[in-house]
Amino acid sequence: MQDLIERAAQAIRTARKTIALTGAGISAESGIPTFRDPGGLWDRYDPEEYATIEAFRRDPGKVWRMMKDFTELKTALPNPGHFGLAHLEQLGLLHCIITQNVDNLHQAAGSRDVIEFHGNMRQVVCMSCRKVLPLDEISLKTLPSYCSCGGVFKPAGVFFGEPIPPYALYRSQEEAQSCDLILVIGTSAVVYPAADIPRVAKEAGAQVIEINPEHTDLTDWLADLIIQEKAGIAIPQIIAAIKAIAS
Ligand code: OAD
Repeated sequence: MQDLIERAAQAIRTARKTIALTGAGISAESGIPTFRDPGGLWDRYDPEEYATIEAFRRDPGKVWRMMKDFTELKTALPNPGHFGLAHLEQLGLLHCIITQNVDNLHQAAGSRDVIEFHGNMRQVVCMSCRKVLPLDEISLKTLPSYCSCGGVFKPAGVFFGEPIPPYALYRSQEEAQSCDLILVIGTSAVVYPAADIPRVAKEAGAQVIEINPEHTDLTDWLADLIIQEKAGIAIPQIIAAIKAIAS
């Protein structure tokens, strides 16, 4: 493992432009359940019933009540994986993070350039007039909550069947095509178009480093270096190795 950590450190040190794609796994050590691991969110809630835009339109109150249960999202704190990526950015060794997460933990850890590919759950959007408000500014006493225009508020995270926010999609493509190293951290890489980002980067000539304790759809055919370890352990070790090389 130490050899892999050192190779990753060397790759990051020498890359011209490194980006990261993160998924639920990087927040697992903050106590937020992933989606597809055993006991994950989609074991407890059927995504067809709670995570599609059709389901929301059918019964917004039911989806909101499920969302309200996510107290973890409010109380969770960044872990050493999030802090490590923020530190890499400060060192000038990480250009940006493309995250599928909606938990705000990269920003809470101090990362500045975070592309929220699946939107975020700290905001709501009116389904009629498209007004966007911070979640804190609407009442959740009766659900769903309504906008002054009469439209229903929806969490601003992307539901299945909804488009990716155009800016996030456009910028992610740009960054994937122009990087020479991509770190793929804590994602099963099965939800598209996010899962396509490492392939776009690889086809443009980038190296792919995967950090994930489990085997994923990318492990065999795309990753150049595979670190089968938790993000909160591997990322600080990589940073220590970068510092050791530099000293
Ligand atoms: P998944 O739940 O599909 O995958 C989580 C990944 O994290 C798995 O590959 C785990 O092995 C890995 N993992 C678990 N603990 C880890 C740790 N401590 N360190 C590193 N990796 C760890 O989550 P995502 O790939 O993020 O979309 O899911 C993608 C999308 O599917 C989500 O954004 C969400 C969901 O449906 C929408 O809701 C639109």
